[in-house]
Amino acid sequence: MRRFVIVAQKARASADFLLVDIPSTSGRLDVLLRCLRAALLVSHGVRRDTIVYLVLLGDPERPVTLRIEGSASRYLRPDERSLATVIKKALALPPATAAFSQVRAGIMIAEGGIETFERELADSKVYLLDEAGEDLRESLPTARESLPTPTDVTFFLGDHIGLDPHALARIHAFGARALCVGPLSLHSEDVITLVHNELDRRTA
Ligand SMILES: C[S@@+](CC[C@H](N)C(=O)[O-])C[C@H]1O[C@@H](n2cnc3c(N)ncnc32)[C@H](O)[C@@H]1O
Repeated sequence: MRRFVIVAQKARASADFLLVDIPSTSGRLDVLLRCLRAALLVSHGVRRDTIVYLVLLGDPERPVTLRIEGSASRYLRPDERSLATVIKKALALPPATAAFSQVRAGIMIAEGGIETFERELADSKVYLLDEAGEDLRESLPTARESLPTPTDVTFFLGDHIGLDPHALARIHAFGARALCVGPLSLHSEDVITLVHNELDRRTA
């Protein structure tokens, strides 16, 4: 399983945003929508081996996490507006508990941040995606080395403003190793594409 956790410092857990102006009415939910597309969708298909967690911290009093599972999702389309509509409907049903509840096939919602799903990562090898980390290409096994790469891997990354100290502390508590995908600071969705590509090259 490949897991991507995007921790959003500004995105609010509210359906009260405009589809015609997502960036300025949602706390930059658009960043997360592009991450969702990069993490779950390939040309004419869904990555069935991937789960995405969108941690919405825009309202610090009420963090919310969305969990989107490729193998169970239906009718996810790649354009930002359709994905925004899916997420808007999910956020219109606010979570009642810290346990995930399903809002539609493959999409679950829970009250709370990283702590709501940390038990799911118990058997996962956890990485932090960070410009200052070790080179991913040299840190994961190459295609010629013995496979497999770890069968369950989790990658944490930040939104357009990066990760806050509280989230970083939680990520480090998993023993996360920091990896970089290249020398430049990239957009979160591009980092996800590069990570998938490296894993695809090793496993396809
Ligand atoms: C737009 S960047 C955030 C930039 C922000 N100014 C910062 O300093 O964190 C979004 C996220 O993508 C990831 N990222 C960006 N470039 C990366 C790189 N070269 N290698 C690994 N992760 C990267 C990091 O997780 C970062 O939090």
